[in-house]
Amino acid sequence: MNIILVGIQGSGKGTQAKFLSKKFKLCHISTGNLLRNITGDRKKEIDSLINNGKLVPDKTILEILKERMIQDDCENGIILDGFPRNIEQAKLLEKELNIQKVIEIQISDQESEKRLMGRISCPKCGIDYNIYTAPKPQKEGFCDKCGSQLTRRKDDNEESIKKRIKTYHEETKPILNYYKNKLITVNGEQSIEDVSKEILKKISNSPL
Ligand code: AP5
Ligand code: MG
Repeated sequence: MNIILVGIQGSGKGTQAKFLSKKFKLCHISTGNLLRNITGDRKKEIDSLINNGKLVPDKTILEILKERMIQDDCENGIILDGFPRNIEQAKLLEKELNIQKVIEIQISDQESEKRLMGRISCPKCGIDYNIYTAPKPQKEGFCDKCGSQLTRRKDDNEESIKKRIKTYHEETKPILNYYKNKLITVNGEQSIEDVSKEILKKISNSPL
């Protein structure tokens, strides 16, 4: 089974992808994480695009994604978090992977801004927390699991967030219509657990 998660910035794609990958034993590929972890010649240019809230070129991201998709842990299926982000990427993906379900997590622009301004993450174990919403760390500023100091993403600043939201509406939203026959839409403005439950219910109600 191969699944795409779509949603505006901060809608909970990463949060729900972690849950679904455990539940269905699928490989979670976040193109944002792949890009943030890149090393070598391409790093400077990619960091600058991300921090300024711009998309990296389709060809670059596809190359990076293809390298990741052929690794052994993807044999059982993939959850794509953050790809595709425009119609061109959706068309390119069609040549590489058979997609069964596309899950859209819906939240408002205001909620998106609030969550991104409040997101803090553990640089060591990758757990996301939120100072305004959920989950909140038990000890302010430190990871519950490993105790590391929590950090903010460089692109989670007001200017970059506004650009990312605009790009979502202009470039990413059209892919929902492209995938209309495989699309499941869930309300992202409920607790993390309730969003997960709604996804599971809707997946089981719409067989592959
Ligand atoms: P990416 O890393 O994908 O960032 P994004 O699209 O901005 O999305 P986020 O990761 O910010 O949001 P999310 O939906 O994962 O939310 P999360 O679960 O963290 O991409 C970064 C950049 O890389 C892009 O801007 C672009 O430059 C580049 N890039 C990536 N893919 C690309 C592509 N295909 N093509 C070109 N360029 C690409 O949740 C957010 C917060 O809310 C957390 O704090 C969480 O704890 C909290 N939260 C989650 N769910 C709930 C809930 N139900 N209630 C309350 N709080 C919640
Ligand atoms: Mg994410």
